Amino acid sequence: MQTNTLHVTALGKHYGSTPVFTNVDFSVQPGEFVAIVGDSGVGKSTLLNCLAGLDEWDSGRIVQGDTDLGTLDETQRALWRRVQVGFVFQAFHVLPHLDVAQNVALPLLLLGRPDAARVQHMLDAVGLGDLGARLPQQLSGGQLQRVALARALVHRPALLLADEPTGNLDPGTAARTMDLLLAQTREQGAALVLVTHSASAAARADRVLRLTAQGMGPA
Ligand SMILES: Nc1ncnc2c1ncn2[C@@H]1O[C@H](COP(=O)(O)OP(=O)(O)O)[C@@H](O)[C@H]1O
Ligand SMILES: [Mg+2]
Repeated sequence: MQTNTLHVTALGKHYGSTPVFTNVDFSVQPGEFVAIVGDSGVGKSTLLNCLAGLDEWDSGRIVQGDTDLGTLDETQRALWRRVQVGFVFQAFHVLPHLDVAQNVALPLLLLGRPDAARVQHMLDAVGLGDLGARLPQQLSGGQLQRVALARALVHRPALLLADEPTGNLDPGTAARTMDLLLAQTREQGAALVLVTHSASAAARADRVLRLTAQGMGPA
């Protein structure tokens, strides 16, 4: 077993008396790309938020390497997340009052490791090398998602979680964004868990899993 493997065991979550998912079992190896598909409302976003330690679950375990997320308190979980996790959302979530370079620098600042050279490297890697001083409102949707991608990977997380990251982009921009996301994730050796409705994005995964109310299974 590799040290940084993510193991999800018998995970279950409900809101009040309404179960969202039960018996979710799967593992992701370092460097692996796993796509998760499933019907709208089945709990894909909720699951990713649990994996990031952003949401609580009711039963089962999430273990990454030596870290059992369920044993961490709020503060420990936030520290774990800052080091280990990058997150890309469908709606970009780029901070509007910070310029592009400041947005990308944020994870490093939270870790107390400011590194302007690393920020510029990531901006160059996603083709935004000249746009560091721009404000988000001056960018296209595809450019905003590239800012989000650079920000998600700048601190070299072991785990990149992406929730329908191309869902707001036109097909051409979506394909180019997937190219970048995959190239950068592979270059860093990060594990990628991608929730997607896109068959072409899922087709590029090492494995495709389907989330249903009964649990996680092959697509
Ligand atoms: N804060 C919440 N309170 C109650 N129900 C919620 C909450 N967030 C999500 N849900 C419900 O949980 C289910 C799963 O939602 P979600 O994870 O967003 O699904 P997906 O991403 O697969 O479309 C949905 O039925 C949704 O309505
Ligand atoms: Mg969702």
